[in-house]
Amino acid sequence: MPKDKEINRTAEHVAIIMDGNGRWAAARGKPRLYGHQAGAKRVRDIVEACPHLGVRYLTVFAFSTENWKRTQTEVAGLMRLFKKYILSEAKRLVNAGVCVRFIGDRLRLEPGLVQLMDELEEMTAKNSLVNLTVAINYGGRDEVARATKRMAQDVAKGFLNPETVNEQTLAGYLDTYVLPDPDLVIRTSGEARISNFLLWQSAYSEYEFVKTLWPDFTVQDFQKIVAIFAGKERRFGGLLAS
Ligand code: IPE
Ligand code: IPE
Ligand code: MG
Repeated sequence: MPKDKEINRTAEHVAIIMDGNGRWAAARGKPRLYGHQAGAKRVRDIVEACPHLGVRYLTVFAFSTENWKRTQTEVAGLMRLFKKYILSEAKRLVNAGVCVRFIGDRLRLEPGLVQLMDELEEMTAKNSLVNLTVAINYGGRDEVARATKRMAQDVAKGFLNPETVNEQTLAGYLDTYVLPDPDLVIRTSGEARISNFLLWQSAYSEYEFVKTLWPDFTVQDFQKIVAIFAGKERRFGGLLAS
Protein backbone atom coordinates (compact mmCIF):
# COMPACT_ATOMS: atom_id res chain seq x y z
CA MET A 1 0.00 0.00 0.00
CA PRO A 2 1.43 3.39 -0.88
CA LYS A 3 1.71 5.77 2.02
CA ASP A 4 -0.59 8.79 2.28
CA LYS A 5 2.20 11.25 1.76
CA GLU A 6 2.91 9.66 -1.62
CA ILE A 7 -0.72 9.78 -2.70
CA ASN A 8 -1.07 13.51 -2.17
CA ARG A 9 1.89 14.82 -4.11
CA THR A 10 1.42 17.99 -6.08
CA ALA A 11 2.85 18.42 -9.52
CA GLU A 12 5.18 21.32 -8.85
CA HIS A 13 6.22 21.62 -12.49
CA VAL A 14 3.77 20.78 -15.26
CA ALA A 15 4.76 21.01 -18.92
CA ILE A 16 2.20 20.99 -21.73
CA ILE A 17 2.54 20.14 -25.41
CA MET A 18 -0.39 22.22 -26.66
CA ASP A 19 -1.34 20.21 -29.75
CA GLY A 20 -4.42 20.01 -31.95
CA ASN A 21 -5.13 23.63 -32.94
CA GLY A 22 -5.06 22.83 -36.67
CA ARG A 23 -7.48 19.90 -36.38
CA TRP A 24 -9.78 21.97 -34.17
CA ALA A 25 -9.97 24.64 -36.87
CA ALA A 26 -10.35 22.10 -39.70
CA ALA A 27 -13.32 20.52 -37.90
CA ARG A 28 -14.99 23.93 -38.12
CA GLY A 29 -14.03 24.54 -41.75
CA LYS A 30 -11.70 27.37 -40.69
CA PRO A 31 -8.04 28.16 -41.49
CA ARG A 32 -5.38 26.77 -39.13
CA LEU A 33 -4.66 30.22 -37.72
CA TYR A 34 -8.18 30.38 -36.34
CA GLY A 35 -7.29 27.32 -34.26
CA HIS A 36 -4.07 28.93 -33.05
CA GLN A 37 -6.00 32.00 -31.92
CA ALA A 38 -8.45 29.82 -29.99
CA GLY A 39 -5.52 27.88 -28.52
CA ALA A 40 -3.73 31.01 -27.33
CA LYS A 41 -6.85 32.01 -25.42
CA ARG A 42 -6.78 28.75 -23.42
CA VAL A 43 -3.43 29.56 -21.83
CA ARG A 44 -4.77 32.31 -19.56
CA ASP A 45 -7.21 30.07 -17.61
CA ILE A 46 -4.66 27.33 -17.22
CA VAL A 47 -2.02 29.74 -15.88
CA GLU A 48 -4.48 31.29 -13.45
CA ALA A 49 -5.54 27.84 -12.16
CA CYS A 50 -1.96 26.91 -11.24
CA PRO A 51 -1.77 28.48 -7.75
CA HIS A 52 -4.97 26.64 -6.72
CA LEU A 53 -3.54 23.32 -7.85
CA GLY A 54 -0.14 23.76 -6.23
CA VAL A 55 1.55 24.08 -9.63
CA ARG A 56 4.44 26.54 -9.25
CA TYR A 57 5.97 26.03 -12.69
CA LEU A 58 4.07 25.76 -15.95
CA THR A 59 5.97 25.29 -19.20
CA VAL A 60 4.14 25.39 -22.52
CA PHE A 61 5.33 24.36 -25.97
CA ALA A 62 4.24 27.09 -28.41
CA PHE A 63 6.54 26.63 -31.43
CA SER A 64 9.11 23.93 -32.14
CA THR A 65 12.35 24.07 -34.12
CA GLU A 66 10.55 21.80 -36.61
CA ASN A 67 7.49 24.07 -36.98
CA TRP A 68 9.39 26.27 -39.49
CA LYS A 69 8.54 23.53 -42.02
CA ARG A 70 4.93 24.75 -42.08
CA THR A 71 3.66 27.19 -44.70
CA GLN A 72 4.95 30.75 -44.64
CA THR A 73 1.39 31.94 -43.97
CA GLU A 74 1.05 29.77 -40.86
CA VAL A 75 4.52 30.61 -39.51
CA ALA A 76 4.04 34.35 -40.05
CA GLY A 77 0.57 34.14 -38.47
CA LEU A 78 1.97 32.38 -35.42
CA MET A 79 4.74 34.97 -34.99
CA ARG A 80 2.13 37.73 -35.22
CA LEU A 81 0.01 35.92 -32.67
CA PHE A 82 2.94 35.65 -30.20
CA LYS A 83 3.48 39.41 -30.44
CA LYS A 84 -0.22 40.13 -30.03
CA TYR A 85 -0.43 37.75 -27.09
CA ILE A 86 2.47 39.38 -25.25
CA LEU A 87 1.04 42.86 -25.80
CA SER A 88 -2.46 41.96 -24.70
CA GLU A 89 -1.54 39.74 -21.71
CA ALA A 90 1.44 41.60 -20.24
CA LYS A 91 -0.43 43.71 -17.71
CA ARG A 92 -2.59 40.84 -16.57
CA LEU A 93 0.44 38.57 -16.10
CA VAL A 94 2.26 41.23 -14.06
CA ASN A 95 -0.79 41.70 -11.81
CA ALA A 96 -1.43 37.97 -11.45
CA GLY A 97 2.05 37.41 -9.96
CA VAL A 98 3.29 35.41 -12.95
CA CYS A 99 7.01 35.35 -13.75
CA VAL A 100 7.39 34.75 -17.50
CA ARG A 101 10.45 33.22 -19.14
CA PHE A 102 11.06 32.11 -22.72
CA ILE A 103 13.15 29.13 -23.78
CA GLY A 104 14.36 28.22 -27.26
CA ASP A 105 16.77 29.78 -29.74
CA ARG A 106 15.96 33.47 -30.14
CA LEU A 107 18.45 34.01 -32.97
CA ARG A 108 16.01 32.87 -35.66
CA LEU A 109 13.13 34.97 -34.30
CA GLU A 110 12.43 38.46 -35.62
CA PRO A 111 13.93 41.28 -33.52
CA GLY A 112 10.50 42.87 -32.86
CA LEU A 113 9.28 39.67 -31.19
CA VAL A 114 12.51 39.12 -29.26
CA GLN A 115 12.26 42.65 -27.88
CA LEU A 116 8.73 42.02 -26.60
CA MET A 117 9.89 38.72 -25.05
CA ASP A 118 12.78 40.47 -23.29
CA GLU A 119 10.50 43.22 -22.03
CA LEU A 120 7.91 40.79 -20.66
CA GLU A 121 10.64 38.82 -18.87
CA GLU A 122 11.91 42.02 -17.33
CA MET A 123 8.43 43.29 -16.35
CA THR A 124 7.56 40.04 -14.58
CA ALA A 125 10.99 39.17 -13.16
CA LYS A 126 10.08 39.97 -9.57
CA ASN A 127 6.93 37.82 -9.59
CA SER A 128 7.02 34.36 -8.06
CA LEU A 129 3.47 33.02 -7.60
CA VAL A 130 3.60 31.08 -10.88
CA ASN A 131 6.58 30.60 -13.18
CA LEU A 132 5.34 30.46 -16.76
CA THR A 133 7.88 29.34 -19.33
CA VAL A 134 6.97 29.61 -23.00
CA ALA A 135 8.96 27.53 -25.48
CA ILE A 136 9.31 29.33 -28.82
CA ASN A 137 11.64 28.00 -31.51
CA TYR A 138 12.47 25.34 -28.96
CA GLY A 139 13.77 21.84 -29.65
CA GLY A 140 15.28 19.52 -27.03
CA ARG A 141 18.10 18.40 -29.33
CA ASP A 142 18.80 21.96 -30.42
CA GLU A 143 18.93 23.03 -26.78
CA VAL A 144 21.46 20.31 -25.90
CA ALA A 145 23.52 21.18 -29.01
CA ARG A 146 23.57 24.90 -28.10
CA ALA A 147 24.47 24.06 -24.50
CA THR A 148 27.30 21.79 -25.65
CA LYS A 149 28.62 24.50 -27.95
CA ARG A 150 28.78 27.03 -25.09
CA MET A 151 30.37 24.44 -22.82
CA ALA A 152 33.04 23.73 -25.45
CA GLN A 153 33.65 27.48 -25.80
CA ASP A 154 34.13 27.77 -22.03
CA VAL A 155 36.57 24.85 -22.10
CA ALA A 156 38.50 26.51 -24.94
CA LYS A 157 38.68 29.75 -22.95
CA GLY A 158 39.90 27.89 -19.87
CA PHE A 159 36.76 28.70 -17.81
CA LEU A 160 35.70 25.05 -17.55
CA ASN A 161 37.76 21.96 -16.76
CA PRO A 162 36.42 19.05 -18.89
CA GLU A 163 37.31 16.58 -16.11
CA THR A 164 34.68 18.18 -13.86
CA VAL A 165 31.81 17.98 -16.37
CA ASN A 166 28.85 15.98 -15.05
CA GLU A 167 25.04 15.98 -15.42
CA GLN A 168 24.69 19.13 -13.31
CA THR A 169 27.21 20.96 -15.49
CA LEU A 170 25.23 20.28 -18.66
CA ALA A 171 21.91 21.07 -16.93
CA GLY A 172 23.40 24.43 -15.99
CA TYR A 173 24.01 25.28 -19.66
CA LEU A 174 20.46 24.41 -20.79
CA ASP A 175 17.81 27.10 -21.39
CA THR A 176 15.95 25.66 -18.38
CA TYR A 177 18.86 26.07 -15.93
CA VAL A 178 16.66 27.91 -13.39
CA LEU A 179 13.75 25.43 -13.56
CA PRO A 180 13.19 22.15 -11.72
CA ASP A 181 12.60 19.13 -13.98
CA PRO A 182 8.94 18.69 -14.95
CA ASP A 183 7.00 16.27 -12.74
CA LEU A 184 4.25 15.88 -15.31
CA VAL A 185 4.13 16.35 -19.08
CA ILE A 186 0.70 16.61 -20.71
CA ARG A 187 0.10 16.33 -24.45
CA THR A 188 -3.29 17.09 -25.91
CA SER A 189 -4.82 15.94 -29.24
CA GLY A 190 -4.30 12.19 -28.89
CA GLU A 191 -0.72 12.00 -30.23
CA ALA A 192 1.54 9.96 -27.94
CA ARG A 193 4.99 11.38 -28.72
CA ILE A 194 7.38 13.95 -27.27
CA SER A 195 8.13 15.83 -30.53
CA ASN A 196 11.52 17.03 -29.23
CA PHE A 197 10.13 18.71 -26.06
CA LEU A 198 12.27 18.86 -22.88
CA LEU A 199 14.18 15.68 -23.81
CA TRP A 200 16.82 15.99 -21.09
CA GLN A 201 14.52 17.40 -18.40
CA SER A 202 11.68 14.86 -18.71
CA ALA A 203 13.84 11.77 -18.08
CA TYR A 204 11.65 10.83 -15.09
CA SER A 205 8.48 12.83 -15.77
CA GLU A 206 5.07 11.22 -15.79
CA TYR A 207 3.30 11.54 -19.16
CA GLU A 208 -0.40 12.04 -19.71
CA PHE A 209 -1.70 11.92 -23.25
CA VAL A 210 -5.25 13.17 -23.63
CA LYS A 211 -7.53 13.11 -26.67
CA THR A 212 -8.89 16.65 -26.18
CA LEU A 213 -7.70 19.15 -28.80
CA TRP A 214 -5.85 22.06 -27.17
CA PRO A 215 -8.51 24.78 -27.85
CA ASP A 216 -11.05 22.55 -26.01
CA PHE A 217 -8.78 21.89 -23.01
CA THR A 218 -10.39 23.29 -19.85
CA VAL A 219 -9.30 24.02 -16.30
CA GLN A 220 -11.40 21.00 -15.28
CA ASP A 221 -9.37 18.77 -17.65
CA PHE A 222 -6.18 20.20 -16.18
CA GLN A 223 -7.41 19.64 -12.64
CA LYS A 224 -8.32 16.03 -13.41
CA ILE A 225 -4.88 15.23 -14.81
CA VAL A 226 -3.07 16.85 -11.88
CA ALA A 227 -5.27 14.74 -9.57
CA ILE A 228 -4.34 11.55 -11.46
CA PHE A 229 -0.68 12.49 -11.03
CA ALA A 230 -1.20 12.99 -7.29
CA GLY A 231 -2.16 9.32 -6.99
CA LYS A 232 0.88 7.94 -8.84
CA GLU A 233 4.00 6.54 -7.27
CA ARG A 234 7.30 7.53 -8.87
CA ARG A 235 10.30 5.28 -8.29
CA PHE A 236 13.20 7.02 -10.07
CA GLY A 237 14.74 3.61 -10.79
CA GLY A 238 14.52 2.50 -7.16
CA LEU A 239 12.03 0.28 -5.35
CA LEU A 240 8.58 1.05 -4.00
CA ALA A 241 8.63 2.66 -0.55
CA SER A 242 7.35 0.14 2.03
C1 IPE B 1 -0.21 22.90 -32.02
O1 IPE B 1 -1.27 22.65 -32.89
C2 IPE B 1 0.35 24.31 -32.17
C3 IPE B 1 1.63 24.38 -32.87
C4 IPE B 1 2.37 23.38 -33.22
C5 IPE B 1 2.12 25.71 -33.19
P1 IPE B 1 -1.04 22.12 -34.36
O2 IPE B 1 -0.90 23.27 -35.27
O3 IPE B 1 0.09 21.15 -34.40
O4 IPE B 1 -2.41 21.36 -34.62
P2 IPE B 1 -2.61 19.98 -35.38
O5 IPE B 1 -1.71 18.98 -34.72
O6 IPE B 1 -2.26 20.20 -36.81
O7 IPE B 1 -4.07 19.66 -35.17
C1 IPE C 1 4.50 19.87 -31.11
O1 IPE C 1 3.40 19.73 -31.94
C2 IPE C 1 4.93 21.31 -31.04
C3 IPE C 1 4.01 22.23 -30.37
C4 IPE C 1 2.92 21.90 -29.75
C5 IPE C 1 4.41 23.61 -30.40
P1 IPE C 1 3.55 19.36 -33.49
O2 IPE C 1 2.19 19.26 -34.03
O3 IPE C 1 4.48 20.31 -34.15
O4 IPE C 1 4.27 17.94 -33.43
P2 IPE C 1 4.21 16.75 -34.46
O5 IPE C 1 4.56 17.32 -35.81
O6 IPE C 1 2.82 16.22 -34.44
O7 IPE C 1 5.20 15.76 -33.96
MG1 MG D 1 0.23 19.16 -34.16
